[in-house]
Amino acid sequence: MADVPKDLLQEIERLEKLFTVDATMLKKVTDHFITELDKGLSVEGGSIPMNPTWCMGFPTGDETGTFLALDMGGTNLRVCEIILTDQKSEFDIIQSKYRMPEELKTGDADELWEYIADCLQQFVETHHDGKELDKLPLGFTFSYPATQDYIDHGVLQRWTKGFDIAGVEGKNVVPMFEAAIAKRGVPIKLTALINDTTGTMIASAYTDPKMKIGCIFGTGCNAAYMEDCGSIPKLAHMNLPKDMPMAINCEWGAFDNEHKVLPRTQYDIIVDKDSPRPGQQAFEKMIAGLYLGEIFRLVLVDLHDNKEVHVFEGQNIDKLRKAYTLDSSFLSLVEEDPFENLSETGDLFSNRLSITTTRPELELIRRLAELIGTRAARLSACGVAAIAKKKGYKTCHVGADGSVFNKYPHFKQRGAVALREILDWPAKKSAKEEDPIEILAAEDGSGVGAALIAALTLKRVKEGNMAGILHPENYK
Ligand code: BGC
Repeated sequence: MADVPKDLLQEIERLEKLFTVDATMLKKVTDHFITELDKGLSVEGGSIPMNPTWCMGFPTGDETGTFLALDMGGTNLRVCEIILTDQKSEFDIIQSKYRMPEELKTGDADELWEYIADCLQQFVETHHDGKELDKLPLGFTFSYPATQDYIDHGVLQRWTKGFDIAGVEGKNVVPMFEAAIAKRGVPIKLTALINDTTGTMIASAYTDPKMKIGCIFGTGCNAAYMEDCGSIPKLAHMNLPKDMPMAINCEWGAFDNEHKVLPRTQYDIIVDKDSPRPGQQAFEKMIAGLYLGEIFRLVLVDLHDNKEVHVFEGQNIDKLRKAYTLDSSFLSLVEEDPFENLSETGDLFSNRLSITTTRPELELIRRLAELIGTRAARLSACGVAAIAKKKGYKTCHVGADGSVFNKYPHFKQRGAVALREILDWPAKKSAKEEDPIEILAAEDGSGVGAALIAALTLKRVKEGNMAGILHPENYK
């Protein structure tokens, strides 16, 4: 960076200080995270919801049958038909993807359910052509925080990931979904409502018994793990067997909503303030894909508006002023620019934002992307370390999915470095040596995972274990 003028160099240093999370801070965040995970399981509760999911155990690999899965993620809607074959841990899948129109996310509830019903209807017509489907159990992956009294029930606690649809929060989403498909006459029966993280954990455990935690690092971020019912004080009144496993959807995006430990910057504060749910999802807003590009954009606008530094001086930056105009794939492209002179980044700024960049500005842009991407990966590792420490897992696999995990450059490796720092692992003896806790690409949670959870639910019904399926009064 020899040729970077002094004002920009000073800014780069300021940003490095702001966005760097050192090992001491990572450990502090992790320790507080463990306390908050415990609080979420307590009767009083805390910010992290720690939602019991009624998914009660890992698959054995011997599950069989045909299932439907519907995945309402942050960006796409996907419908799948999954056949769990009688070959151990093998499956066939057919699927269709539909883009979630942006307007739907802030539109009205009826439009949302109608759109979902339309997609299901299209899928059934394309792939089934009139064949009866009413016996196919459906796993609905609804990836938002929901309180579940039973596995086929879920009261939306609050929208996340920029969704803001009136009339759904505080209500059970299952009857809304069922009414829309009944209206269309689509012959489908919902068996289980699941979170993408639970699906990811279960799908990954289907093929890898070392899998203990499921994570999503995508538009939003979150994790699920398996708890013993005896360690969930808020379920004590149900008298469930103490050693019975229960998947917990942590909803860790809500970690530190009280702003006790996370090193928030002025930019994180603006992201929160201008979001549809200020005060919510403090952790998610610093690390999830929906927000990375926005944080980056806010810094650049701030630098341009600061007359003491000269960034995009004298240029019209109206395109850059538009909120959420850059998503995390833009940052990925900046970080992936292979050229010494950062010419691809220069082209990006000129084509997408009509901004001409100087070489020193490009150096600053690249460093900023690295800082934001690295902070996200390192903070994410705190959540994984907290669950592992809480559960006493010295070694395990963590199944991860989502656009940031799969596509953001260096995310995996940066996360692994942070885990090593937090958990004080000794240096590796050889490059080939596995880390004690590894975060690996997961199996398809909202497809195969949803199918498996539906299969596990039906198995429990058959065995007469109705906890989480029937009203507690009926199985005491
Ligand atoms: C949601 C979670 C979800 C995560 C990843 C968050 O915004 O609240 O339920 O698991 O995004 O999709």
